[in-house]
Amino acid sequence: MSLQIPDDRTPDGKPESEQPQWRRDFPIDWPEDNYISRRDFTRFLVLTSFAFAVGQTWILAMGSMGRGEDRQGRELVASVDDIPEGGAKTFTIKGTKEPFLLVRMSENTFVAYGQKCTHLSCPLIPQPEMGRLYCPCHEGAFDLQTGHPMMGPPRRPLPRVRLEISGNKVYATGVEDHRL
Ligand code: FES
Repeated sequence: MSLQIPDDRTPDGKPESEQPQWRRDFPIDWPEDNYISRRDFTRFLVLTSFAFAVGQTWILAMGSMGRGEDRQGRELVASVDDIPEGGAKTFTIKGTKEPFLLVRMSENTFVAYGQKCTHLSCPLIPQPEMGRLYCPCHEGAFDLQTGHPMMGPPRRPLPRVRLEISGNKVYATGVEDHRL
């Protein structure tokens, strides 16, 4: 069976202007339609296969790296230089919903805890000069060294983020949550 290549002629040999309205609306005949469909279908298959391969590669890369996660599974929290001594920064960790608080207690000492008070979830305010995280809602406070309650109504310690400092970067490597 030979492949028919479409040409410009109309099937009945009459000029375009004399063709019925339906032919002018849809001027492709069956042989041309088959030819175009096969060619377009092949192109469609090639393009979708390529897009699928690119998508899978992207998903694989994102899955292994994670958002902000490095190859050791650590999640970058901050650069050391971004936080002055006595300074703090809020951050989130992939897979958790609550905010965390990173506090630079001294040149080489960082701590990080959940930012919500374990009494009624008010946001905590870091007060490194007093060695505590303060809750203004009911005058509660947590020890900055340990995350344990030191005054007011809170009875449970804060979730603590395990940190690792490597070069100029502070990484989170996990969360210890005593509430669970
Ligand atoms: S919510 Fe923090 S002490 Fe009550």
